Amino acid sequence: MKHLMSPLDLSVEELDRLLDLANDIEANPSRYSHSCEGKKLATLFYEPSTRTRLSFEAAMLNLGGSVLGFSSADSSSAAKGESVSDTIRIISCYADICAMRHPKEGAPLVASMKSSIPVINAGDGGHQHPTQTLTDLLTIRSLKGKLGDFTIGLCGDLKFGRTVHSLIQALIRYPNIHFVLISPEELRIPDNIRDEVLIKNHQDFREEVRLEDAIPELDLLYMTRVQKERFFNEEDYIRMKDFYILDKEKMKLAREDMLVLHPLPRVNEISTEVDDDPRAVYFKQAQYGVYVRMALILTLLEVEVC
Ligand code: NCD
Repeated sequence: MKHLMSPLDLSVEELDRLLDLANDIEANPSRYSHSCEGKKLATLFYEPSTRTRLSFEAAMLNLGGSVLGFSSADSSSAAKGESVSDTIRIISCYADICAMRHPKEGAPLVASMKSSIPVINAGDGGHQHPTQTLTDLLTIRSLKGKLGDFTIGLCGDLKFGRTVHSLIQALIRYPNIHFVLISPEELRIPDNIRDEVLIKNHQDFREEVRLEDAIPELDLLYMTRVQKERFFNEEDYIRMKDFYILDKEKMKLAREDMLVLHPLPRVNEISTEVDDDPRAVYFKQAQYGVYVRMALILTLLEVEVC
């Protein structure tokens, strides 16, 4: 049985197959509409979510399956002190597959060790968010035609933003990618990603503070919000939260074919005036998230669709 804890749990070939499947689902949704009949997905969310939880649920419903779960720790037995290990043993009796989001890094991994159903990490603290990465890869591959040969700017909270950590790990396996890491000093990429992932793999990257200095050379700009919930004090958050605001003026500095991605939710880091720019693809990206989660559920449940 396979779980998904990190994007690296899938080889490049497995990822290619998964993205191909997601594209086929996009093109032929009715072919897949009964493929998970009788199967149940449990969503165990100990932390807030809109897109990830609902896109998992929409994915399973689109496949003809059903969903159950909870959307906050307060409404589960975690509030009574139940451990993640005990909860997953119980959920294994009720569902065929589960997606878990937890504020503690490694909680879904602990769950996977006690689980008799596939566990998908739907975000663990500031650590990883592999299904957002699958969404990002599908968006890039579908809209740019390939993965590789581009310069990508990752902008915002690179310290606490788990989507960025997972995306960097996934992208270094593709050829000729240049990273521009754009953040304030305080929110730079963590040492473990810089040293163990980028430097160790001889990956080309540089760090910038000003978005204006980096934007003209980018093929892709991945904006992120400052992760309020991971700050130790409110003052630091308030000082950092509006450090970057992508607006029409800054978009004028960018290439005609640069794409703007964002895992969402957006706070102030992208002005709403950018939403109508054809280069802004973050809402399309959320739609790709449903297709790729459908493909992931089919793959982990080993459902063959003929
Ligand atoms: C991201 C997350 O939860 O890490 N959201 C999402 O799943 N699309 C990004 C964020 O919360 O900033």
